[in-house]
Amino acid sequence: MCGNWKMYKTPGEARALAREVANGLRGADDGPEVAVCPPFPSIPAVREILEGTSVAWGAQNCSPHLEGAYTGEVAVPMLVDLGCRFVILGHSERRQIFGETDSSVHEKLQTVLGAGLTPIVCVGETLDEREAGRTEEVVDRQIRGAFEGIPGAEVGRTVVAYEPVWAIGTGRTATPEQAEAVHRRIRATLSGLHGEDVATATRILYGGSVKPGNAGELFSQPNIDGGLIGGASLSARDFLAIVGAECSTE
Ligand code: PGA
Repeated sequence: MCGNWKMYKTPGEARALAREVANGLRGADDGPEVAVCPPFPSIPAVREILEGTSVAWGAQNCSPHLEGAYTGEVAVPMLVDLGCRFVILGHSERRQIFGETDSSVHEKLQTVLGAGLTPIVCVGETLDEREAGRTEEVVDRQIRGAFEGIPGAEVGRTVVAYEPVWAIGTGRTATPEQAEAVHRRIRATLSGLHGEDVATATRILYGGSVKPGNAGELFSQPNIDGGLIGGASLSARDFLAIVGAECSTE
């Protein structure tokens, strides 16, 4: 289960939220793996609170380069130094607002894997694409674009997040059946690329308006392995309730 805090939470606010999440999960060590991804400047504050707890932390993006003259960018070794375990890649906001492409996601994926961190690769169709019956084609292209040419052993330790763009921050969630159908398809595509064992090992999260009230139904689908939570992860109470919903479907 991963919280994507997007561009919310100053370092001070992030510290308070991280503390609430960690306190809420204290003693629940046999539950699902939980991580939060704050904005870059808030990562050190979150680390201070979460170090030694069961909650991991990560980043929302990174440069494909290890260092260099790239003003405004953040390199993966810096994230390693900050104790990050995860990096979200190819979120639809990055694809739509910042021009990320399948090939930039692929490059970043190689860099993140090379550093031993766990990428969370986001894929998902827009409303127009869904209505035109192109969901599978779009998601296939995004999965192939990211994972083709990456060794199978590496793919097996990645996380994929299926996030239909029309469900992100809109309050409109994919039905469990709609989400499960795409998750099944993603696993089949991964299996075609890298074999069934790799496809089974790859965790596939659902994201898009997950709330305490709809989480249980989504997570009980056989190919939905957890969630990438945006808005609801900004409230410790809601995020903890969503983690609880996953516990009860495990
Ligand atoms: P949401 O965002 O939960 O606010 O819909 C999900 C995401 O963008 O990762």
